[in-house]
Amino acid sequence: MAASMEGPSNALRMVGTFVLILASASVACSTNSEGGSVNGSCDSQVYDEAAISKLAVLYAYGIDSLAPGNFDAGVAILQQVFTPNASIGTCFAPGQCLNKTGPVEWAQTSSALFAAGNYSATHHMVGNQRIELDDSKQAGTMVSYLTASQFVRNSTNIDLYHGVYYDEVVRDSGGEWRISTRDLRTTSFLRIIGHRVS
Ligand SMILES: *[C@@H]1O[C@H](CO)[C@@H](O)[C@H](O)[C@H]1NC(C)=O
Ligand SMILES: *[C@@H]1O[C@H](CO)[C@@H](O)[C@H](O)[C@H]1NC(C)=O
Ligand SMILES: *[C@@H]1O[C@H](CO)[C@@H](O)[C@H](O)[C@H]1NC(C)=O
Ligand SMILES: *[C@@H]1O[C@H](CO)[C@@H](O)[C@H](O)[C@H]1NC(C)=O
Ligand SMILES: *[C@@H]1O[C@H](CO)[C@@H](O)[C@H](O)[C@H]1NC(C)=O
Repeated sequence: MAASMEGPSNALRMVGTFVLILASASVACSTNSEGGSVNGSCDSQVYDEAAISKLAVLYAYGIDSLAPGNFDAGVAILQQVFTPNASIGTCFAPGQCLNKTGPVEWAQTSSALFAAGNYSATHHMVGNQRIELDDSKQAGTMVSYLTASQFVRNSTNIDLYHGVYYDEVVRDSGGEWRISTRDLRTTSFLRIIGHRVS
């Protein structure tokens, strides 16, 4: 307590630095003296980033529809996330990779993996996103953290997955953002042996 009265703590200084970085990152488009957008370029950048960010969230809803048995609904959502020929892959070990083309193939593969794992449900959480647009504003990249809890049927076990999605995104001919390439890199995959609390 005494230390914090003499000046900002290290943690507060770090937060201050972070806020400065965020502030400087957001002045890349032109603004008037009130801080508003002069010609809409700021708004469209915000719009594009929001639309791209939404893809990662939609993906979670789509993929989480599969284990409980809502395959068609899941595919319909994933078709709003990916280009029809998107390249989607992940590696379980060096040289041991899964490579699929398009949302339907990916949904079939994921559904089979969830069935083999005896998952009654999965819960994908995405966050910590970094989105960058090309100068053309027609393509870009998104990096997102993933934490997925996968609930083993008839048990109190959870298969807990941590990973990072590396995506390439494109604006399609209809003007909609879609993921064209997704590379999921695993950080950790652990079985959590639990017991029921209530
Ligand atoms: C809007 O402002 C940006 C940044 O100053 C500029 O690059 C762009 O050409 C402007 N667009 C229009 C339509 O004036
Ligand atoms: C998917 O199709 C588009 C349009 O035909 C093409 O430009 C792109 O290279 C293809 N992407 C992949 C990953 O095959
Ligand atoms: C297969 O998927 C992995 C992981 O996303 C990726 O690194 C690799 O380049 C892909 N291979 C092909 C042939 O697309
Ligand atoms: C899934 O459940 C079946 C039937 O209870 C069992 O034989 C199998 O070992 C389970 N698979 C896994 C990965 O736990
Ligand atoms: C889970 O329990 C249900 C109901 O008791 C049973 O029908 C089913 O076969 C069990 N599944 C597994 C994978 O053990």
